[in-house]
Amino acid sequence: MSIIDKSNEELIGRAELNDIEAILAITNTDVDEVEHIVKNNADSIFTWDYSLARPQLRKLYEKAKTGQWNGTTDLDWSIGVDIEKTIIEDSLILGSGMERDRYADTKIGKWGDKEWLEFGIEGRRWQLSQFLHGEQGALICTSKIVETVPWYDAKLYASTQVVDEARHVEVFARYLDEKLEGGYQVNTHLRLLLDDIINDSRWDMTYLGMQIMVEGLALAAFGFLHATTNEPLLKKLLRYVMSDEARHVAFGVLSLKEVYDGMSDAEIKDRQEFAYEASVRMRDRFLQQEVWDRLGVSTKELAPIMLQDPERQLFQQMLFAKIVPNCKKLGLLDRNDKWLRHKFEEMGVIQFEDWQDTTDEVDDFEIGKELRPIGE
Ligand SMILES: [Fe+2]
Ligand SMILES: [Fe+2]
Repeated sequence: MSIIDKSNEELIGRAELNDIEAILAITNTDVDEVEHIVKNNADSIFTWDYSLARPQLRKLYEKAKTGQWNGTTDLDWSIGVDIEKTIIEDSLILGSGMERDRYADTKIGKWGDKEWLEFGIEGRRWQLSQFLHGEQGALICTSKIVETVPWYDAKLYASTQVVDEARHVEVFARYLDEKLEGGYQVNTHLRLLLDDIINDSRWDMTYLGMQIMVEGLALAAFGFLHATTNEPLLKKLLRYVMSDEARHVAFGVLSLKEVYDGMSDAEIKDRQEFAYEASVRMRDRFLQQEVWDRLGVSTKELAPIMLQDPERQLFQQMLFAKIVPNCKKLGLLDRNDKWLRHKFEEMGVIQFEDWQDTTDEVDDFEIGKELRPIGE
Protein backbone atom coordinates (compact mmCIF):
# COMPACT_ATOMS: atom_id res chain seq x y z
CA MET A 1 0.00 0.00 0.00
CA SER A 2 1.49 3.34 -0.92
CA ILE A 3 1.25 6.24 1.46
CA ILE A 4 -0.48 9.29 0.07
CA ASP A 5 1.43 12.56 0.19
CA LYS A 6 -0.66 15.29 1.77
CA SER A 7 -0.42 18.75 0.24
CA ASN A 8 0.83 21.80 2.12
CA GLU A 9 -2.76 23.02 1.98
CA GLU A 10 -3.91 20.03 4.01
CA LEU A 11 -0.97 20.10 6.40
CA ILE A 12 -0.45 23.76 7.22
CA GLY A 13 -3.54 25.39 5.71
CA ARG A 14 -1.71 27.15 2.86
CA ALA A 15 0.04 26.09 -0.34
CA GLU A 16 2.99 28.44 -0.02
CA LEU A 17 5.22 28.38 3.06
CA ASN A 18 5.67 32.17 2.88
CA ASP A 19 2.04 33.12 2.16
CA ILE A 20 1.97 36.20 4.38
CA GLU A 21 -1.77 36.82 4.09
CA ALA A 22 -2.45 33.32 5.38
CA ILE A 23 0.08 33.56 8.21
CA LEU A 24 -1.25 36.89 9.42
CA ALA A 25 -4.88 35.82 9.07
CA ILE A 26 -4.42 33.78 12.25
CA THR A 27 -4.60 36.20 15.15
CA ASN A 28 -5.49 36.05 18.81
CA THR A 29 -9.14 37.06 18.96
CA ASP A 30 -9.44 36.85 22.72
CA VAL A 31 -6.58 38.88 24.17
CA ASP A 32 -8.16 39.11 27.62
CA GLU A 33 -8.57 35.36 27.99
CA VAL A 34 -7.44 34.14 31.41
CA GLU A 35 -8.45 30.50 31.23
CA HIS A 36 -7.96 28.33 28.16
CA ILE A 37 -9.48 24.86 27.97
CA VAL A 38 -8.22 22.06 25.73
CA LYS A 39 -9.67 18.56 25.43
CA ASN A 40 -7.13 15.98 26.50
CA ASN A 41 -8.16 12.88 24.57
CA ALA A 42 -5.75 10.35 26.01
CA ASP A 43 -6.03 7.25 28.20
CA SER A 44 -4.35 7.11 31.59
CA ILE A 45 -2.31 3.93 31.81
CA PHE A 46 -1.26 2.04 34.94
CA THR A 47 1.59 -0.44 34.75
CA TRP A 48 2.13 -3.23 37.24
CA ASP A 49 5.54 -4.00 35.83
CA TYR A 50 7.97 -2.24 38.15
CA SER A 51 11.10 -3.88 36.80
CA LEU A 52 14.00 -1.89 35.49
CA ALA A 53 13.42 -2.31 31.76
CA ARG A 54 15.06 0.86 30.44
CA PRO A 55 18.35 1.58 32.23
CA GLN A 56 19.09 4.71 30.19
CA LEU A 57 15.86 6.34 31.30
CA ARG A 58 16.56 5.32 34.89
CA LYS A 59 20.01 6.88 34.64
CA LEU A 60 18.41 10.11 33.48
CA TYR A 61 15.98 9.90 36.40
CA GLU A 62 18.89 9.66 38.86
CA LYS A 63 20.55 12.61 37.16
CA ALA A 64 17.33 14.62 37.46
CA LYS A 65 17.11 13.95 41.20
CA THR A 66 20.58 15.36 41.83
CA GLY A 67 20.21 18.16 39.26
CA GLN A 68 17.41 19.95 41.13
CA TRP A 69 17.79 23.64 41.97
CA ASN A 70 15.62 26.19 43.71
CA GLY A 71 14.44 29.21 41.74
CA THR A 72 13.93 31.21 44.93
CA THR A 73 17.34 30.73 46.52
CA ASP A 74 19.76 29.81 43.72
CA LEU A 75 19.10 32.98 41.74
CA ASP A 76 19.91 36.41 43.12
CA TRP A 77 16.63 38.28 42.76
CA SER A 78 18.10 41.36 44.43
CA ILE A 79 19.94 42.14 41.18
CA GLY A 80 18.35 45.25 39.66
CA VAL A 81 17.72 45.12 35.91
CA ASP A 82 18.04 48.36 33.98
CA ILE A 83 16.20 47.23 30.89
CA GLU A 84 17.30 50.11 28.66
CA LYS A 85 20.95 49.62 29.53
CA THR A 86 20.62 45.85 29.10
CA ILE A 87 19.09 46.12 25.66
CA ILE A 88 21.65 48.71 24.52
CA GLU A 89 24.53 46.50 25.71
CA ASP A 90 23.06 43.29 24.32
CA SER A 91 22.39 44.86 20.93
CA LEU A 92 26.09 45.66 20.60
CA ILE A 93 26.54 41.89 20.25
CA LEU A 94 23.19 40.97 18.77
CA GLY A 95 22.28 43.94 16.62
CA SER A 96 18.55 44.47 16.27
CA GLY A 97 18.18 41.15 14.46
CA MET A 98 17.23 43.05 11.32
CA GLU A 99 19.14 44.63 8.44
CA ARG A 100 17.80 48.12 8.86
CA ASP A 101 18.57 49.39 5.35
CA ARG A 102 16.11 46.96 3.88
CA TYR A 103 13.24 48.71 5.62
CA ALA A 104 14.05 52.23 4.38
CA ASP A 105 10.74 52.62 2.55
CA THR A 106 8.57 51.38 5.41
CA LYS A 107 7.32 53.10 8.54
CA ILE A 108 10.33 51.89 10.53
CA GLY A 109 12.71 53.36 7.94
CA LYS A 110 12.31 56.66 9.78
CA TRP A 111 13.00 55.21 13.20
CA GLY A 112 15.75 56.71 15.31
CA ASP A 113 17.70 55.18 18.23
CA LYS A 114 14.81 55.75 20.63
CA GLU A 115 12.36 53.72 18.56
CA TRP A 116 14.84 50.92 17.96
CA LEU A 117 15.51 50.76 21.69
CA GLU A 118 11.78 50.51 22.36
CA PHE A 119 11.57 47.73 19.79
CA GLY A 120 14.44 45.93 21.54
CA ILE A 121 12.73 46.18 24.92
CA GLU A 122 9.36 45.03 23.60
CA GLY A 123 11.08 42.23 21.69
CA ARG A 124 12.76 40.99 24.88
CA ARG A 125 9.45 41.10 26.77
CA TRP A 126 7.72 39.27 23.97
CA GLN A 127 10.41 36.63 23.68
CA LEU A 128 10.54 35.84 27.40
CA SER A 129 6.73 35.78 27.50
CA GLN A 130 6.61 33.14 24.78
CA PHE A 131 9.24 31.18 26.73
CA LEU A 132 6.97 31.44 29.77
CA HIS A 133 3.86 30.23 27.95
CA GLY A 134 5.85 27.42 26.34
CA GLU A 135 7.05 26.41 29.81
CA GLN A 136 3.48 26.11 31.00
CA GLY A 137 2.78 24.00 27.92
CA ALA A 138 5.68 21.77 28.98
CA LEU A 139 4.32 21.54 32.51
CA ILE A 140 0.95 20.34 31.23
CA CYS A 141 2.39 18.02 28.56
CA THR A 142 4.75 16.35 30.98
CA SER A 143 2.07 15.72 33.56
CA LYS A 144 0.11 14.17 30.69
CA ILE A 145 3.07 11.94 29.86
CA VAL A 146 3.16 10.68 33.46
CA GLU A 147 -0.37 9.39 32.88
CA THR A 148 -0.17 8.18 29.32
CA VAL A 149 3.25 6.60 28.84
CA PRO A 150 2.97 2.85 29.43
CA TRP A 151 6.55 2.41 30.76
CA TYR A 152 7.41 2.54 34.45
CA ASP A 153 10.90 4.08 33.97
CA ALA A 154 9.45 6.83 31.80
CA LYS A 155 6.73 7.66 34.34
CA LEU A 156 9.40 8.11 36.99
CA TYR A 157 11.50 10.35 34.81
CA ALA A 158 8.53 12.40 33.58
CA SER A 159 7.52 13.13 37.18
CA THR A 160 10.83 14.93 37.73
CA GLN A 161 10.27 16.93 34.60
CA VAL A 162 6.94 18.16 35.99
CA VAL A 163 8.81 19.75 38.91
CA ASP A 164 11.46 21.14 36.56
CA GLU A 165 8.80 22.80 34.41
CA ALA A 166 7.02 24.26 37.44
CA ARG A 167 10.34 25.88 38.35
CA HIS A 168 10.76 27.23 34.83
CA VAL A 169 7.29 28.76 34.81
CA GLU A 170 8.05 30.24 38.24
CA VAL A 171 11.33 31.92 37.25
CA PHE A 172 10.24 33.29 33.88
CA ALA A 173 6.98 34.64 35.35
CA ARG A 174 8.88 36.25 38.21
CA TYR A 175 11.50 37.77 35.93
CA LEU A 176 8.86 39.29 33.64
CA ASP A 177 6.86 40.62 36.54
CA GLU A 178 9.66 41.98 38.74
CA LYS A 179 12.30 42.98 36.20
CA LEU A 180 10.47 43.78 32.96
CA GLU A 181 7.18 45.17 34.26
CA GLY A 182 5.03 42.56 32.58
CA GLY A 183 4.82 40.62 29.37
CA TYR A 184 2.72 39.54 26.43
CA GLN A 185 -0.17 37.18 25.83
CA VAL A 186 0.57 33.84 24.18
CA ASN A 187 1.27 34.07 20.47
CA THR A 188 -1.52 32.38 18.48
CA HIS A 189 0.78 30.12 16.48
CA LEU A 190 2.41 28.86 19.66
CA ARG A 191 -0.96 28.34 21.34
CA LEU A 192 -2.31 26.39 18.37
CA LEU A 193 0.74 24.15 18.49
CA LEU A 194 0.33 23.52 22.23
CA ASP A 195 -3.38 22.78 21.65
CA ASP A 196 -2.53 20.26 18.93
CA ILE A 197 0.01 18.49 21.12
CA ILE A 198 -2.36 18.16 24.06
CA ASN A 199 -5.29 17.20 21.86
CA ASP A 200 -3.58 14.21 20.30
CA SER A 201 -4.55 10.88 21.85
CA ARG A 202 -1.28 9.07 20.98
CA TRP A 203 1.22 9.26 23.83
CA ASP A 204 4.28 9.44 21.62
CA MET A 205 2.89 12.57 19.93
CA THR A 206 3.11 14.47 23.22
CA TYR A 207 6.80 13.62 23.34
CA LEU A 208 7.36 14.51 19.70
CA GLY A 209 5.54 17.83 19.94
CA MET A 210 6.94 18.87 23.30
CA GLN A 211 10.29 17.18 24.02
CA ILE A 212 11.59 17.14 20.45
CA MET A 213 10.03 20.19 18.79
CA VAL A 214 9.10 22.80 21.43
CA GLU A 215 11.88 21.96 23.87
CA GLY A 216 14.41 21.43 21.08
CA LEU A 217 13.67 24.94 19.87
CA ALA A 218 13.74 26.28 23.43
CA LEU A 219 17.14 24.75 24.12
CA ALA A 220 18.58 26.43 21.03
CA ALA A 221 16.88 29.76 21.78
CA PHE A 222 17.95 29.77 25.45
CA GLY A 223 21.50 28.93 24.36
CA PHE A 224 21.57 31.81 21.93
CA LEU A 225 20.24 34.34 24.45
CA HIS A 226 22.49 32.96 27.19
CA ALA A 227 25.53 33.41 24.96
CA THR A 228 24.64 36.95 23.98
CA THR A 229 23.07 38.68 27.00
CA ASN A 230 25.15 40.57 29.57
CA GLU A 231 22.37 40.76 32.13
CA PRO A 232 23.66 38.57 34.99
CA LEU A 233 20.33 37.45 36.46
CA LEU A 234 18.88 36.42 33.10
CA LYS A 235 22.14 34.74 32.12
CA LYS A 236 22.18 32.58 35.22
CA LEU A 237 18.46 31.87 35.02
CA LEU A 238 18.86 30.64 31.44
CA ARG A 239 21.91 28.57 32.33
CA TYR A 240 19.99 26.79 35.08
CA VAL A 241 16.93 26.22 32.90
CA MET A 242 19.14 24.83 30.12
CA SER A 243 20.64 22.24 32.44
CA ASP A 244 17.11 20.82 32.86
CA GLU A 245 16.04 21.37 29.27
CA ALA A 246 18.87 19.27 27.84
CA ARG A 247 17.72 16.33 29.98
CA HIS A 248 14.16 16.80 28.77
CA VAL A 249 15.13 16.69 25.12
CA ALA A 250 17.32 13.63 25.78
CA PHE A 251 14.33 11.99 27.52
CA GLY A 252 12.29 12.53 24.36
CA VAL A 253 14.96 11.19 22.03
CA LEU A 254 15.66 8.09 24.15
CA SER A 255 11.98 7.23 24.51
CA LEU A 256 10.95 7.84 20.92
CA LYS A 257 13.94 6.06 19.39
CA GLU A 258 12.68 2.78 20.79
CA VAL A 259 9.13 3.37 19.59
CA TYR A 260 9.95 4.68 16.12
CA ASP A 261 12.37 1.87 15.30
CA GLY A 262 9.39 -0.49 15.42
CA MET A 263 6.89 1.61 13.48
CA SER A 264 5.52 1.05 9.97
CA ASP A 265 6.12 3.59 7.20
CA ALA A 266 2.53 4.82 7.44
CA GLU A 267 2.84 5.44 11.17
CA ILE A 268 6.16 7.22 10.67
CA LYS A 269 4.61 9.39 7.99
CA ASP A 270 2.10 10.71 10.55
CA ARG A 271 5.00 11.63 12.82
CA GLN A 272 6.93 13.30 10.02
CA GLU A 273 3.89 15.39 9.14
CA PHE A 274 3.38 16.35 12.75
CA ALA A 275 7.03 17.42 13.03
CA TYR A 276 6.68 19.51 9.89
CA GLU A 277 3.45 21.20 11.03
CA ALA A 278 5.04 22.01 14.38
CA SER A 279 8.11 23.46 12.64
CA VAL A 280 5.98 25.75 10.49
CA ARG A 281 3.93 26.97 13.45
CA MET A 282 7.09 27.79 15.37
CA ARG A 283 8.53 29.59 12.37
CA ASP A 284 5.33 31.62 11.84
CA ARG A 285 5.44 33.03 15.32
CA PHE A 286 8.76 34.72 14.61
CA LEU A 287 7.05 37.51 12.75
CA GLN A 288 6.39 38.86 16.29
CA GLN A 289 2.99 40.19 15.27
CA GLU A 290 2.10 41.28 18.80
CA VAL A 291 5.21 43.44 19.13
CA TRP A 292 4.52 45.31 15.90
CA ASP A 293 0.90 45.81 16.94
CA ARG A 294 1.99 47.35 20.23
CA LEU A 295 4.39 49.69 18.40
CA GLY A 296 1.71 50.71 15.92
CA VAL A 297 3.48 49.22 12.91
CA SER A 298 1.80 47.06 10.27
CA THR A 299 3.25 43.52 10.26
CA LYS A 300 1.79 43.10 6.79
CA GLU A 301 3.96 45.92 5.48
CA LEU A 302 7.14 44.47 7.02
CA ALA A 303 6.56 40.74 6.65
CA PRO A 304 7.62 40.35 2.99
CA ILE A 305 10.91 42.11 3.79
CA MET A 306 11.40 40.26 7.09
CA LEU A 307 11.06 36.90 5.35
CA GLN A 308 13.90 37.85 2.99
CA ASP A 309 16.07 39.57 5.61
CA PRO A 310 19.29 37.50 5.96
CA GLU A 311 19.83 38.53 9.60
CA ARG A 312 16.39 37.34 10.58
CA GLN A 313 16.74 34.21 8.48
CA LEU A 314 19.98 33.33 10.23
CA PHE A 315 18.45 33.74 13.66
CA GLN A 316 15.33 31.81 12.69
CA GLN A 317 17.35 28.97 11.21
CA MET A 318 19.53 28.72 14.34
CA LEU A 319 16.43 27.80 16.29
CA PHE A 320 16.35 24.50 14.45
CA ALA A 321 19.92 23.58 15.43
CA LYS A 322 18.72 20.99 17.96
CA ILE A 323 15.50 19.85 16.27
CA VAL A 324 17.08 18.68 13.02
CA PRO A 325 19.84 16.43 14.46
CA ASN A 326 17.38 14.95 16.95
CA CYS A 327 14.88 14.20 14.17
CA LYS A 328 17.72 12.55 12.28
CA LYS A 329 18.65 10.41 15.27
CA LEU A 330 15.01 9.29 15.48
CA GLY A 331 15.08 8.23 11.84
CA LEU A 332 12.44 10.79 10.91
CA LEU A 333 14.41 12.62 8.21
CA ASP A 334 14.81 9.87 5.66
CA ARG A 335 11.92 7.45 6.04
CA ASN A 336 9.25 7.60 3.30
CA ASP A 337 11.58 8.77 0.53
CA LYS A 338 13.27 11.41 2.67
CA TRP A 339 9.97 13.24 3.17
CA LEU A 340 10.96 15.33 6.20
CA ARG A 341 14.44 15.98 4.79
CA HIS A 342 12.83 17.65 1.78
CA LYS A 343 10.60 19.77 4.02
CA PHE A 344 13.56 20.89 6.11
CA GLU A 345 15.42 21.71 2.89
CA GLU A 346 12.54 23.96 1.83
CA MET A 347 12.67 25.64 5.23
CA GLY A 348 16.42 26.17 4.90
CA VAL A 349 17.39 24.26 8.06
CA ILE A 350 18.78 20.93 6.83
CA GLN A 351 22.38 22.13 7.35
CA PHE A 352 22.10 21.24 11.06
CA GLU A 353 21.53 17.53 10.46
CA ASP A 354 25.04 16.50 11.52
CA TRP A 355 25.27 18.73 14.58
CA GLN A 356 25.42 16.90 17.88
CA ASP A 357 22.16 15.28 18.97
CA THR A 358 21.04 15.92 22.52
CA THR A 359 21.53 12.42 23.92
CA ASP A 360 25.25 12.89 23.16
CA GLU A 361 25.57 16.31 24.74
CA VAL A 362 23.23 16.13 27.75
CA ASP A 363 26.07 15.86 30.29
CA ASP A 364 27.74 18.98 28.91
CA PHE A 365 24.80 21.05 30.12
CA GLU A 366 25.14 20.19 33.81
CA ILE A 367 25.32 23.18 36.13
CA GLY A 368 28.89 24.28 36.72
CA LYS A 369 30.20 23.13 33.35
CA GLU A 370 31.39 25.63 30.79
CA LEU A 371 29.08 25.57 27.74
CA ARG A 372 30.67 25.03 24.36
CA PRO A 373 30.31 27.96 21.96
CA ILE A 374 27.27 27.48 19.70
CA GLY A 375 27.99 25.26 16.71
CA GLU A 376 31.12 23.56 18.04
FE1 LIG B 1 11.19 24.02 30.65
FE1 LIG C 1 11.60 21.29 29.55
